[in-house]
Amino acid sequence: MPDSKNPFSAEELDQIRKETPGVQHVVHFNNAGASLMNIQVAQKVSEYLDHELRYGGYETAIEYRQQIEATYQNIADHLQCNFREVAIMENATVAWQQALLSIPWKPDDIILTSRAEYASNYIAFLQLQKRLGVEVKPIPNNEFGEVDVQALESIIQPRVRLIAITHIPTNGGLVNPAAEIGSIARKYGIWYLLDACQSAGQMSLNVKEIGCDFLSATSRKFLRGPRGVGLLYVNERILPGLEPVLLDLHGATWDTPTSYRIRPDARRFENWEFNLAGVLGLSEAIAYASSLGIDRIWQRIQYLADLLRTGLEQIPDVSVHDLGRVKSGIVSFKGPFNSKRMKLRLGKAGFNTSLIVPEGTLLDMQDRGLGEMIRASVHYYNDENEIRQFVSYIKEHI
Ligand SMILES: Cc1ncc(COP(=O)(O)O)c(C=O)c1O
Repeated sequence: MPDSKNPFSAEELDQIRKETPGVQHVVHFNNAGASLMNIQVAQKVSEYLDHELRYGGYETAIEYRQQIEATYQNIADHLQCNFREVAIMENATVAWQQALLSIPWKPDDIILTSRAEYASNYIAFLQLQKRLGVEVKPIPNNEFGEVDVQALESIIQPRVRLIAITHIPTNGGLVNPAAEIGSIARKYGIWYLLDACQSAGQMSLNVKEIGCDFLSATSRKFLRGPRGVGLLYVNERILPGLEPVLLDLHGATWDTPTSYRIRPDARRFENWEFNLAGVLGLSEAIAYASSLGIDRIWQRIQYLADLLRTGLEQIPDVSVHDLGRVKSGIVSFKGPFNSKRMKLRLGKAGFNTSLIVPEGTLLDMQDRGLGEMIRASVHYYNDENEIRQFVSYIKEHI
């Protein structure tokens, strides 16, 4: 029976698992890497490719134009924004970097960011620092390991141009207070870029409530879409002042020999060529998540992650390292074993996990003196039995 912790009935879960054939082969706790797709998503991708096989790529794109267009509306409904504020790209990093690099930077501008920032993001900050003299400053954490919103407000000054935060970091359960950060950004008129790569598909993302100017995400993680697709939300209010660094004939029109005109919507950030089969797969994945209800998904993920953490914590010498008051489906742990070797052993035993490496989120891992750990990330289609099996395996193999 569904209850306040576990919102899915046994019948519903049974149906979901039937539609997710991967669960018959593996215990998939690598949803923060890439989730298992369901049949509907895979079928949509292969239907599109099959059409391309028969009729040609450009011709298929024309045939599917309406469905491709509807994807923008699906994403917009999911993020609770206008479809003109949505761009689709090849991954979350490109989406995020397109946003970052479109800001008209001045030397001495300051970027405020989180201590649990993802390596690719931080490398881009350091590049900006090297190239343009922009300064990067991590915001202190509060006692729970979240971005400290009061500390953030106290370090705001006129040179702060951007607040760039990772909502759910790659290396653990932490959920940063995205909307509280957004209200500070709005209060001081500072641009706000949210990396929602790990939160999209786990929890509801209302960009207007969060108050971000940009949000980037990926298809393959908790949204359960195909690989090779990412998305970007850009607030319409700031769009007119943004010039993408990568601008092609899709994002702009070459209207005189010496000038070009940038399109008015967020698709100015896209390139002409992209993976349309993947786009339709993402659309299908979002429709599926909406039919289950994103709040119910979030509730079930938290329920399962809590079971997993509790199970792991009960094993002597195993420690769980997830920060924050609200915890996501990402569970990070280590024990008296070599994490890399244990991850490989788990894989051979049919448990998919991934390895957390210090350089993935360097500041946070150094702050906490952590080395490699195992990341077990659950999704709503996982079940209690899989968690029991996983915990027993760790218990028996340490
Ligand atoms: C927090 C975070 N941001 C960004 C990314 C990059 O996403 P993509 O590989 O789609 O570019 C990841 C991928 O793991 C991530 O965990």
